[in-house]
Order: sequence, then structure tokens, then C-alpha cells
Amino acid sequence: MAERRIRWGVISTANIGRAAVNPAIQASRNGRLDAVASRDGERAREFATAHSIPTWYGSYEALLDDPDIDAVYIPLPNSLHREWAVRAAEAGKHVLCEKPLALDAAECLDMEAAARANGVKLMEAFMYRFHPRTKRVVEMVRSGLIGDVKAIRTAFTFRLTRKDNIRLDPTLGGGALMDVGCYCVNVSRTIVGAEPVSVQAVAQWTERGVDEALAGMLHFPEGVVSHFDCSLTMERSEAFEVAGTDGYLRVPAAFLPGTGPVGIEEVRGREPVKTHTLEGTDEYLLMVEHFADCILLDVEPRYSASEAAANMRVIEALYRSARSGGVSVTL
Ligand SMILES: NC(=O)c1ccc[n+]([C@@H]2O[C@H](COP(=O)([O-])OP(=O)(O)OC[C@H]3O[C@@H](n4cnc5c(N)ncnc54)[C@H](OP(=O)(O)O)[C@@H]3O)[C@@H](O)[C@H]2O)c1
Repeated sequence: MAERRIRWGVISTANIGRAAVNPAIQASRNGRLDAVASRDGERAREFATAHSIPTWYGSYEALLDDPDIDAVYIPLPNSLHREWAVRAAEAGKHVLCEKPLALDAAECLDMEAAARANGVKLMEAFMYRFHPRTKRVVEMVRSGLIGDVKAIRTAFTFRLTRKDNIRLDPTLGGGALMDVGCYCVNVSRTIVGAEPVSVQAVAQWTERGVDEALAGMLHFPEGVVSHFDCSLTMERSEAFEVAGTDGYLRVPAAFLPGTGPVGIEEVRGREPVKTHTLEGTDEYLLMVEHFADCILLDVEPRYSASEAAANMRVIEALYRSARSGGVSVTL
């Protein structure tokens, strides 16, 4: 692998690129951020200048036409993920695409087929999975530390202040479940290690028909239940708990822990809480380095688009339930 670095381009001047993923690419040991594209050439130029990106383009197509770009990072509104991931794959670019990978499972599978047909890698940018703590929690659960898992409780909420935010636009794939509930679904499936057999949800809808808050329940085999709430209208909260027959694990700041030390709290009745502390790290950096390694070594990314499709199948079922007043929907 020696000195080779992946030459990345970012499609759009999105906030999440600016705040977290672009700097991670720039700091990575095996990549560099060579270009940014925007719908607006002047915006691209300003962004590139402000963030030390050598090349800018006034259209996404122009970036895809650049033969010196190996991989693109796509932080577009959800409704545009499929189109630009497929176009990037057809242009021979590897694709790291923001979560949720697409609007539904069928779109995820289209993207996977395009990547396969064009011999490029594709991965959903669910960064929390790359934090060593997530793996550690799964290992602790599998080791039997808290007995048999019975329930998972999750929340991911925050308060949106801008009405023109993409998350409130139904034509762009907005909604609390799409934006943050997708983490609750993903972490529940990861911890249980199985797919839910049925789901239920209730939601509060905006006038435009976007779920600004949604509470969901996932029924897994053997009676394991996961319940969660996600919202675009509540104070920030992002945490999960795994409850077992012998104790439970609490994971605060579960998805966006920052780069400082993190904890896993082991709780048993009234005994003093035992906190397992892990060193801080940058989950975005670990994610982009993993993806670039997969390209350099020509191995498949740890998380496939089929896995993203499985998450979307659950999200689709939750929306069906929420739109029908909370009926149970079988998967
Ligand atoms: N993993 C994470 O931690 C994380 C965190 C936040 C968001 N995300 C995901 O990242 C994606 C982007 O979220 P964001 O909050 O960063 O979005 P954002 O700041 O609103 O940026 C989206 C970008 O898409 C481009 N765009 C193209 N067509 C657009 C349209 N019709 N309306 C609005 N923008 C359009 C714009 O760039 P140009 O004008 O420059 O072309 C815009 O800057 C979403 O999929 C979201 O779920 C992930």
C-alpha cells in the first residue's frame, strides 16, 4: 500500500462535509481531498479556497469527468443519493455516500448493482459503526455480560431551527426517521444481530407531510424488543441502552461522541455503576481510512449496500405503520 493515497472529490458544499468528513479525508493517512463540486461555481470556489481544496467545479458532472479523482464522498440530500452514486459508479469512481444510503431498499440495491457492474466500491457513511466503542458494546453483549438481551432503548433527537433545512422537505427525503431514527434502527439490528419480524410506529407530521418526530418499536425473534424515539423538534439526546436478564449497558453520546474519551456504563440493580472508559478517536477518520484501504487493497468494505438495504426495509415498514396509525407491519 506504501505511499499511494486515494484522491477524493466531494460532491456539494454540504455542512457535514465541511464540519466532519472533509477534514477527516484531509487528515487521513491514505487519502487526500483534491476537489469539490457545487451546483454553483462561485460557491465551489469559495468553499475550496476556505478549506484548502485545490480544485473546484461548478457542476457535479464536471467532478465525475475528472480522471484524477478515484473516489467521491456524497453528502447530498437523501433524494439525490441514488442518482449521484450511480452516476459516479458509471464514471468509475468509488462512492462513500451519506446515510441513509437511499430513499428505500430498492434504491440501495440499484446502487449496489451499479457499483458491482463498474467494479467500484460503495459504502454508506454511518460513521458511528467505526467507533471502537460500538464494537466493544457488541462484544460485551455477546459475551453474556448482561445475560440474555431482552430490550434496547434508543433515542436520537435534536431541534431544527431553520425551516428551509433539507430535513423538512418531503421532496428531498426529509424526516426524523430518515435523518436520525435510521441510527436507532441500525444500532438495534447490529446489537441483536438479526432483522426485526414486525414493527410499529407513531409519528407527528408537519403540514408538508414530513415526520418531525417518530416513536417506533421493533420486534425481533425470541421476544427481543427495541423501542426508540427520534425527533427534529426536541433538545439533543442521543444514547442507547441494552437491557438483559442480569444487567444493562448504557451508552451516552452514542452516535456523535466527539473525539474525547467515551464510556460504557454497566449497571446492575442498585450496585454502583461500573464505567468502562475507552480512548477518544475520530470515528469519521476511521471510516474514511477504512474505505480508502478497501480501494487500495481491493477488498469489500465492512458494510455492504445490501446491509443498508436491510436497514431501509425496516424504515420503510416503520413509515407504513406510522401512516396507518401505528398498526403492526410484518417484515
Ligand atoms: N454522518 C453524519 O454525521 C451526518 C450528519 C449530518 C448529515 N448527514 C447526511 O449528509 C447529507 C447532507 O446533510 P447536510 O445537513 O450536510 O446537508 P446540507 O448542509 O443541506 O447540504 C446539502 C448539499 O447538497 C447540495 N444540494 C443539491 N441539491 C440540493 C437541493 N435541492 N437542496 C439543498 N441542497 C442541495 C447543496 O450543495 P451545493 O449547493 O454546493 O451543490 C447542499 O450544500 C444527508 O444525507 C444527511 O443525512 C450525515
